[in-house]
Amino acid sequence: MARLTLPRISLLILVTLLSINPAFSQSDLNEALLLASPGAIAANPELSAHMNTIAEAVISEHCAACHGTDLTGQTGVPNLVDFDWLWGVTGFEMTATEAVMEIMQTILYGVRDTDCPEESKRYGACPDTRFSEMPAYTSLDFSQSKINDFTEYVLFISGRDADEKAVVRAQNDWEICSECHGDDGYGYKPFGGPDLTDDIWLFGDSREQILDVISNGRTESCPAWSTRLDMVSIKALSVTIYNRSMGY
Ligand code: HEC
Ligand code: HEC
Repeated sequence: MARLTLPRISLLILVTLLSINPAFSQSDLNEALLLASPGAIAANPELSAHMNTIAEAVISEHCAACHGTDLTGQTGVPNLVDFDWLWGVTGFEMTATEAVMEIMQTILYGVRDTDCPEESKRYGACPDTRFSEMPAYTSLDFSQSKINDFTEYVLFISGRDADEKAVVRAQNDWEICSECHGDDGYGYKPFGGPDLTDDIWLFGDSREQILDVISNGRTESCPAWSTRLDMVSIKALSVTIYNRSMGY
């Protein structure tokens, strides 16, 4: 039978300490992650590694099914790593924290989330969820020719060939669309209205696909994660997604 000599006892104590220690340092790292700015996290390799481990696990378990494992999205689901945001982030933020907070709001309360108690809803959606709607103009009794005009206008502002007369007619009516897509079609982040002048398309770039969106509307949604994940995971996701979108 092995006897507990002094060196063995010290080894035992050391092993015990080592196995307890990571538990302490995990929670210390979690606490640090919650409070640290994106810049402070980036400057701390241990904290960055801890954050990435958490974010990767959550992304593959909860986000990849819709946004893809590399978060580049699919039809109707946005790419999260191209720094082209539907909601909140404009690119004019003075600090990384401002952009991270906008992304965090989207992750916490979702987009067009309706999965909450009826009595807490406002205008049919959950509190603080990102909300607006691409109207279905056919059901708002817009004529086919008017919808065609708007389609030509969208093609025109995104730099494609379009029917000139139709473009002029739609331009005179653009205030119908500008509330959510902006005066120049660059989009409006508080309402999640996409930029229509760039070459990033959520629902496809063809004349038929654009006409279909204007005719039938769209109301895609992202779940709210405040009820499903803890705050450490939400912070890790927000900063990691921001970092990846910046190419860090
Ligand atoms: C069921 C599918 C689904 C899942 C799961 C999902 N999302 Fe989404 N997400 C969407 C869709 C669809 C949108 C676009 C909503 C819209 O039209 O504005 C979106 C939008 C977003 C946006 C806003 C992007 C922008 O351009 O402003 C963020 C941020 C986001 N999701 C993060 C996440 C994260 C983080 C997870 C995992 C924890 C996740 N999503 C899981 C479907 C999903
Ligand atoms: C009340 C806000 C609102 C108004 C008004 C509005 N839109 Fe939209 N539009 C949106 C939103 C939000 C989306 C994205 C829908 C989604 O993510 O589910 C969108 C998406 C689109 C898209 C698809 C973009 C892409 O990347 O695939 C086109 C095209 C478009 N709108 C054109 C128009 C035109 C033309 C008008 C005016 C006739 C108009 N919209 C009016 C909110 C609006």
